[in-house]
Amino acid sequence: MHHFEYRNDTLFCEAVSVAAIAETVGTPFYLYSQATLERHFTQFDRAFDGIDHLVCYSAKANTNQAILTLFNRMGSGLDIVSGGELYRGLRAGFAPEKIVYSGVGKRIDEIDAALARGILMFNIESQQELELINARAGQLNTTAPVAIRVNPDVDPKTHPYISTGLKQNKFGIDIRTARDAYRAAQALDHVDVVGIDCHIGSQITDTQPFADALQSLKALVTALKDDGIVIKYIDMGGGLGITYQDEAPPALNTYAATISATLKKMPVKLILEPGRVIVGNAGVLVTRVLFIKPGPVKNFVIVDAGMNDLMRPTLYHAYHHVQPIIRKTAGKDEAFVADVVGPICESGDFLAQDRKMPPFEPGDLMALMSAGAYGFTMASNYCSRLKPAEVMVHGERFEVVSRRQDYETLVQNERVPAWMDA
Ligand code: LLP
Repeated sequence: MHHFEYRNDTLFCEAVSVAAIAETVGTPFYLYSQATLERHFTQFDRAFDGIDHLVCYSAKANTNQAILTLFNRMGSGLDIVSGGELYRGLRAGFAPEKIVYSGVGKRIDEIDAALARGILMFNIESQQELELINARAGQLNTTAPVAIRVNPDVDPKTHPYISTGLKQNKFGIDIRTARDAYRAAQALDHVDVVGIDCHIGSQITDTQPFADALQSLKALVTALKDDGIVIKYIDMGGGLGITYQDEAPPALNTYAATISATLKKMPVKLILEPGRVIVGNAGVLVTRVLFIKPGPVKNFVIVDAGMNDLMRPTLYHAYHHVQPIIRKTAGKDEAFVADVVGPICESGDFLAQDRKMPPFEPGDLMALMSAGAYGFTMASNYCSRLKPAEVMVHGERFEVVSRRQDYETLVQNERVPAWMDA
C-alpha cells in the first residue's frame, strides 16, 4: 500500500499533485510520501508485537536525514555499515544504544568512532575483525559488545548480487565454524559476546529461507549455552521483498508469524534490519521526457534521468513500473512499446526495457515507481550529472529534503596540484 494515486488522471502523492512539485523543483527528483513511510514502519513494528524486539531500520536503503529523523522519532533503531552511516544516524538523533553495525570491511577509524559512541553491537564478519575490534576496545579502555554474523548457507532465491547467506558469499562466518569463533571471542578481554546475527539476502519473497536461517541460528544458540556463552540478541537482518511488478511477497504479519513461530519462547531479544520493505514503495523517481526516438527495432523514450540517478535497472535488471504523471490517453495506457533510456553514453543506461506504456511526448512527466529504496543512495555523478533533488510530501505539504546538487559542489573537493600552477 502506498499513497501515490491518480485524481482525475493526475498523479498525486498524498494530497499534492506531482506535476505541481515538478514545476517548482525541476526534474529529475525523488519523491517520498511520509504517510507511506509511517504506515510501513508502524505495520512492520506492530507485526512483532508480543515479542521482545527492536526494529533497526537499515540505513543503506535510504539515508536522507528527513527519513532517518522520522524513523528515529517513531522509535526505530538503526542498522549501519559505515562511518558515514554512523555519522548520519547520530546527526538524525539516533541513540547509539540502538545502533547495530554490520559489514565485512570496517576500518579502524570507523570502529573507533562506533566504540567511542557506545553502539548496541558490532556484527562481526571475520576472525581478524574480531581481533581488531578487541584490540581497539582495549586501546580505548572499553569493551565492545559483539554479535557474530553467521553464514547459515541458505538460498534466499533472489538476484545473485543480493544473495548474502550462501557459502560462496563473502559475508559472515560459516555456521559450522562459528562455535569456534564464539569460543575465541569469549576468551578475549575487551569484547562482550551479546548476540548472533545473519542477513541472508534482499528482495526475498518467500518465508522459508528466513525460517531455515533462524533454525540454524537457534541450534547454535543452544550449543553455545553448553559452552557457557549466553546470547541476548538474535539479529535476523533484513531482506523482506516488495512488489515491483508481480512479485507476491509474504504479508508482514505472515513474515513476523514465521519468525515468531520459529523463535518460540527463546529468551532473547529479536533485532530486525528492514530496509526495502519500509521505504521501497514509499518513493518514486520523477523525470521528464526529452525526446521520442523511433528506431528500426525499438522505440526509445529518452528522459532526463539516467542510470546514475537510478542504477537498479542496469545493475540487477530490476523492474520499476513506468507511469505517466498526467494520463492524457485514457484507454491507451499500453499502446506503445519502448525502452525508457537516459542521457548517458552507454547502452546500459536504461530505466525500463521493452515496456508497454502510454504514448509519451516530449515534455511529458513520468514516474519510475517503487524507487524509495536503493535509489538515491546508489546515485552517482557519472558523466558529471548532478545528483537529483529529494522531496518529501506530508498531507498537503511538500518540501525539498535534499536540494539538487549544483556544479560548484560537483567540483568543490577537486584541486589542481601546485606543480601545475603558474
Ligand atoms: N542488513 C544487512 C546486513 C544488509 O546487508 C542489508 C542489505 C539489509 C539489512 C537490508 O536489506 P533489505 O531489507 O533492504 O532487503 N542495492 C540492492 C540491495 C542491496 C541490499 C544490501 N544489503 C538493490 O537495489 O536491490
